[in-house]
Amino acid sequence: MSGHFDAVIVGGGAAGLMCALTAGRRGKRVLLVEHANRVGKKILMSGGGRCNFTNTGTTPANYLSANPHFCKSALARYTPWHFIDMVERHRIAYHEKELGQLFCDESSKLIVKMLLDECADAGVRVEISCSIERLTHGDSDEARFRLHTTHGTFSAPSLVVASGGLSIPSMGATGFGYELARRFGHGVLPTRAGLVPLTLSGKHQERLAELSGVALPVTAHCNGASFSNYLLITHRGISGPAILQISSYWQPGDDLRLDLLPGQDALEALQQWQRERPAAELKTVLGDVMPKRFAQRLCEHWLSNRPMKQYNAPQLREIAQVLGDWPLVASGTEGYRTAEVTLGGVDTDEISSSTMQSKRVPGLYFIGEVLDVTGWLGGYNFQWAWASGHAAGNAV
Ligand code: FDA
Repeated sequence: MSGHFDAVIVGGGAAGLMCALTAGRRGKRVLLVEHANRVGKKILMSGGGRCNFTNTGTTPANYLSANPHFCKSALARYTPWHFIDMVERHRIAYHEKELGQLFCDESSKLIVKMLLDECADAGVRVEISCSIERLTHGDSDEARFRLHTTHGTFSAPSLVVASGGLSIPSMGATGFGYELARRFGHGVLPTRAGLVPLTLSGKHQERLAELSGVALPVTAHCNGASFSNYLLITHRGISGPAILQISSYWQPGDDLRLDLLPGQDALEALQQWQRERPAAELKTVLGDVMPKRFAQRLCEHWLSNRPMKQYNAPQLREIAQVLGDWPLVASGTEGYRTAEVTLGGVDTDEISSSTMQSKRVPGLYFIGEVLDVTGWLGGYNFQWAWASGHAAGNAV
């Protein structure tokens, strides 16, 4: 089988599907090549099966990138409201969970179905279980890119790389996009797992492992970033939304600090407890504002445990210091096996921020997670996939 198209898109994830349907709607002949046995696998598993498909509070400040300005143009031209519009047209019921995060009421499957229906309507040809064997690049404008695949040879003047990052290899993630970028002379910034549980070792791990499953609200601080949400203790370390968020800012050796009484002044709280409950032990008063087992472990290993009236002012200050700024030494991350995203990727320096086209190679585009643009937890990554896919879909 062979065929000629206006654009061939590699990768049938969120970005690739959005690019395909946008270009198809403009009357372009589009081929979407996906090597897995179905498209949108990450959409299906996202948001606990309900897909947190966007965040109504999306701004460029919610993204990490060596060039924080790069994402601005695409995000401004395709906003969460554009995607919500499509969701509503397809009568998919949704709700806001918290902090602007929109989830399907029923299932992520509806989002994949919506995107596939839109693609079908726009005449997009989708080839699944289709592996790329070779890519050649010529001078002829019409057939600049020739893709030799297990399903035949396809040519097009535009090639869109939407192959995603490295997280969850079992779902089809590959380094294809990075290798292709390097081959065409693009820089690729070092990649690492983001939105990922952190592991602990030594004493910290021993002291906390038994509390696996315990969750508490914290504010996590690292390298100038901070996130207030839940921390979850796991067998190997720590997870939960506050930790997943801060993990994108953490690298081995970096200082990670947790405020265990978020929104409260720890010293004022201790002084108040001392006045109001002088005979109560520290672990008891702490056990009223955080999980009791955690309070007990904290008092055993990091604090002391006496009746409140027995602490003098400097001791209360020391306790307040630990509670408000608990230093936790993470030993690593759980890596790409469980990471939601890949930080780093194709350097945006030589990519047009309005079209996602390479400034080095005419007709070559990069969209979605393969680029060095990574969002926070909470629907921001899909919003980037939609926005960058839409930008390229309007340009090919
Ligand atoms: P994506 O990874 O979606 O798609 C890339 C596609 O390319 C894949 O289908 C892959 O098989 C294919 N591919 C790779 N190499 C290929 C090759 N050589 N040939 C052909 N095809 C190839 N974000 C969010 O905003 N809200 C959420 O709720 C969640 N939840 C979530 C849960 C989990 C468990 C994970 C792992 C991730 C999330 N995310 C998320 C992140 C989000 O899924 C991610 O940022 C987007 O899917 C990125 O979209 P892309 O299209 O760029 O890559």
